[in-house]
Amino acid sequence: MTEIIEFNNNISVDACLNKIIYGDCLEIMRTLPDKCVDVVITSPPYNLLKSSGNGLKKNTKCGKWKNAAIKNGYAEYDDNMPYVDYIAWQRECVAEMCRLIKDDGAVFYNNKNRVQNGLLEDRGEIVKGFPLRQIIIWKRSGAINFNAGYFLPITEQIYLLCNKAFKLAQGANKNTDVWEVKQEMKNPHPAPFPE
Ligand SMILES: C[S@@+](CC[C@H](N)C(=O)[O-])C[C@H]1O[C@@H](n2cnc3c(N)ncnc32)[C@H](O)[C@@H]1O
Repeated sequence: MTEIIEFNNNISVDACLNKIIYGDCLEIMRTLPDKCVDVVITSPPYNLLKSSGNGLKKNTKCGKWKNAAIKNGYAEYDDNMPYVDYIAWQRECVAEMCRLIKDDGAVFYNNKNRVQNGLLEDRGEIVKGFPLRQIIIWKRSGAINFNAGYFLPITEQIYLLCNKAFKLAQGANKNTDVWEVKQEMKNPHPAPFPE
């Protein structure tokens, strides 16, 4: 099992290797030097508890959402920010990730478009101006956010942000930009990545 260590301000890159550092990602990233990371793979909170509709509401039965663990937010984070603050926060995170990757490094930043007040909230806003090379579509096996106003969204975006020298491993380019990966089901975390 991977060792988990609490964040402290004197943490070095070497101390981070093969460990899970428990703390605020921005605070941690800011202590690390430029170009020290090969790859960032991340899925931030999607601000789901900030909802214009009657979908997710914390600690309620949420009608059709009643089995969705995500409605409770995360243990120490309630996923409910004003839209403008959420975008600004995520842009700060992406800026740090891009600073940390090496010249041939890459960031795989996963997020999900949403419809709020009847209009698309396009997460492309978060990565605008950063070195975006590709948008990979993550096709999941299903979803629960049924709405009479739009087709059931079962895709998410994985933004591939990278420096010029980034190349895929040999042969990897035979894979397409649509990744069909089932979501993890048997896990107490509300939004786990499958292994
Ligand atoms: C959408 S989930 C993604 C989980 C991911 N798919 C996985 O398997 O680890 C977002 C995660 O970000 C965590 N989180 C929220 N705010 C954070 C912060 N400031 N720094 C680091 N992690 C944070 C939440 O607790 C939650 O576990």
